[in-house]
Amino acid sequence: MEKRVLGKSALPVSPIALGAWAIGGWMWGGSDKRDSIRAIHACLGHGITSIDTAPIYGFGHSEEVVGEAIKGKRDKYEILTKAGMRWEGTRGEYYFTTNDNSGIQRDIYKYSGRDSLIAECEESLKRLGTDYIDLYQIHWPDTTTPIEEAMEAFRILLEQGKIRAAGVSNYSVEQMEKAAAVVELSSNQVPFSMVRRDIERDVQPWCLENNCGILAYSPLQRGLLTGKITPDYPFAPGDSRPETPHFKVNNLIHTNKFLEKIRPMAEEKGASLSQLVIAWTLRQPGITVALVGARTEQQVVQNAGAMDIDLSDDEVNRINRKLEKLQLDLH
Ligand SMILES: NC(=O)c1ccc[n+]([C@@H]2O[C@H](COP(=O)([O-])OP(=O)(O)OC[C@H]3O[C@@H](n4cnc5c(N)ncnc54)[C@H](OP(=O)(O)O)[C@@H]3O)[C@@H](O)[C@H]2O)c1
Repeated sequence: MEKRVLGKSALPVSPIALGAWAIGGWMWGGSDKRDSIRAIHACLGHGITSIDTAPIYGFGHSEEVVGEAIKGKRDKYEILTKAGMRWEGTRGEYYFTTNDNSGIQRDIYKYSGRDSLIAECEESLKRLGTDYIDLYQIHWPDTTTPIEEAMEAFRILLEQGKIRAAGVSNYSVEQMEKAAAVVELSSNQVPFSMVRRDIERDVQPWCLENNCGILAYSPLQRGLLTGKITPDYPFAPGDSRPETPHFKVNNLIHTNKFLEKIRPMAEEKGASLSQLVIAWTLRQPGITVALVGARTEQQVVQNAGAMDIDLSDDEVNRINRKLEKLQLDLH
C-alpha cells in the first residue's frame, strides 16, 4: 500500500503507523526493551515507516526507546510525537494522578503554554536523538491556555525547522477551527475503532471538508478486537485495560460474539481478525492512518499485513450491518 500524505502537509506517512504507547510500559503493565526495539526495526521491512510516540508514554521511556531504535536510520522513519502533558510542575489543567514505571506518584497536567511547548520540543529531540520531528501534536487540549498560544509555539517550531508538520490530538471541531486559524493544521489524532465511532458525528466530516488528516488511535480497541481478550485474560499488574469500559465482562462477551461473526470473512481472505479490523479501519472515509500499537515483532508483522487486504464495498457493508447489532454498555 502506498504512502499517504497527511492533510495539507507535505508529509508522507505509512497507512499503518506503529503506536509506541505500550512500548513505554506505563498503563500497559510494563514492556520489554529488546522486544520493543525489534518491533520498531521490523516495521521497515513491512511497509510501516511512521512511529507515533509521546513524552508521557513511560515518562520519557517510549521516546528514548524509539530514539535508540532509529539510531543510524533516522531518515527511513517519520517520527510523530506530542507535547502538552506534563508530570513536573502544576501549571495548566490538572488531569489525573498516576504511578510512573518506578512506582513514583505523578500528578499529570495538560499544559500548552508557549514556552513550555518550546522547551518540551527540545526535550523530545534529545530523547529521540534527532534534530527534527516529522509531526508534532498537542496531546490533549488544555482549557487554561488559549489554543492560539499553543499554535503560536508550533508556528515558531515550524519556522525553526524543528518540526515538519503541526497536528493536534483529541481536539473537538471548535478547537480544530481555532488551531487552523493560526497554523496549517495537518492532522487530528483521535480514538476510532469498530466499537468507538464518536468522531463520525463531527470530527470526521470536518476533517474531510478541510483536508485535515486523521490518525485513528487504538483501532484494535487496545487489543480487544484481536479476539484474544477473554473474561479470564491474564493482564499484567498495572495494565489499565481491565478498568476501561470496553473491557467490562459483558462488553467482552458481546464484542467476541461479533468477532466470531466476521471471522469467516477473515478466513476467506486468508487474514487474521486483527488484519480484517485494521483493513476495515483504513477503508473508512477520512482516515489517513491507522495508528496500531504493538509490543513485539510478531505483532508488527501481522498488523502490517492488513495493508495487503483488499475489502470490497460489499464486504465493508456486511461488517457494518453486523456492527449495527452490537450493543455495548460504555458507561
Ligand atoms: N493521542 C492519544 O490520546 C492516544 C490515546 C491512545 C493511543 N494513542 C496512540 O495510538 C496507538 C495505538 O493505540 P493503542 O496502543 O491504545 O491500542 P491498539 O492499537 O488498539 O492495540 C494495541 C495493543 O493490542 C495488542 N496487539 C496489537 N497487535 C496485536 C496482534 N497482532 N495480535 C495480538 N495482540 C495485538 C498489543 O497489546 P498486548 O500484547 O498487551 O495485548 C498492543 O499493544 C498508541 O500506541 C498511541 O501511539 C494515542
